[in-house]
Amino acid sequence: MTRIFSGVKPTGHLTLGNYLGAVRQWVAAEQKPDEALFCVVDLHALTVEHDPARVRRLSRQAATLLLAAGLTPEKCTLFVQSHVDEHARLSYLLECTASDGELRRMVQYKEKAAKAQASGEGVRLSLLTYPVLMAADILAYRTGEVPVGEDQRQHVELTRDLAVRFNQRYGYTFTVPKATHPVVAARVMDLQDPTSKMGKSGDTGPGVVFILDEPEAVRKKVMRAVTDSGDGGVVYDPAARPGVSNLLDILAACTGGEPTALADGYTGYGALKRDVADAVVELLRPVRVRHAELAADPGTVEAVLRAGAGRARAIARPVVDEAYRAIGLLEP
Ligand code: TYM
Repeated sequence: MTRIFSGVKPTGHLTLGNYLGAVRQWVAAEQKPDEALFCVVDLHALTVEHDPARVRRLSRQAATLLLAAGLTPEKCTLFVQSHVDEHARLSYLLECTASDGELRRMVQYKEKAAKAQASGEGVRLSLLTYPVLMAADILAYRTGEVPVGEDQRQHVELTRDLAVRFNQRYGYTFTVPKATHPVVAARVMDLQDPTSKMGKSGDTGPGVVFILDEPEAVRKKVMRAVTDSGDGGVVYDPAARPGVSNLLDILAACTGGEPTALADGYTGYGALKRDVADAVVELLRPVRVRHAELAADPGTVEAVLRAGAGRARAIARPVVDEAYRAIGLLEP
């Protein structure tokens, strides 16, 4: 059995990038409740300036959206990170395994720390230790595979390093996990700034398609997407033509095609954009409809999360207890 674990942070509304890069893979991966676990990582949302009511609202919305996207509570465990104490308990042991230097080298830390500093907020210590908590999320379940977008590759690498180091020093405790990425759209780019990732807390609202956007809003954003300077035609070349290539990636991910082959079918940007808009609207339509149904019944979502937390705890507790013993702590 290969256990699968992944998570999403409630720091904004979920985007097309989250959907294509991660959530769709999760729906395909769910098998049995103790083999596939998906988590709304609310503790991670506290690592940057946050509004408590908004985090609570976004946590509920993320869980509802994951169910609407097709996760089924019979086949996976869906839960909220803060409901299972083992994540924070294990995180401390891993802080005692990681070094300050390796955390400061994390690309996402450097980017987010620079942003927090520039805005005058100051950098929360938890932003530095963010990847350690993420490692705890993964290792507490002896996870084998972590389906994520490309941007999480470095964090999963660090998780592997920490698992190996812990096992070597204190005896075999953790499975060493590996990241898995989708073949296309592992890094969906912002439609207005195709050299930056499409992010839920991104600054360029018009460049970000949210899963719950109305079809008209999706169309408007896609039709206004930037398509690189010069008239090089429709060519798939992510380095030289990031705007057009991003649209081709999105189309390929929505239709199951291949970006280079798709490019051959277009002579102009207008037709490409119309097809991308149609494909995205059709892909997201059932998710939006199901989300509206589920949001009208919050009791059901709460019950799923409560049951999910119980199952997650039952898996994580013995693993984390074993890590406590291995590292030299006296049993209570
Ligand atoms: P988060 O919340 O930023 O994103 C959730 C998932 O969506 C993927 N993703 C993308 N994929 C393709 N293109 C994009 N533009 C795009 N934007 C986001 C992310 O790669 C991710 O898979 N650190 C994690 C949350 C986390 C986690 C974990 C993940 C915490 N603990 C344990 C896996 C395992 C994050 O910030 O994801």
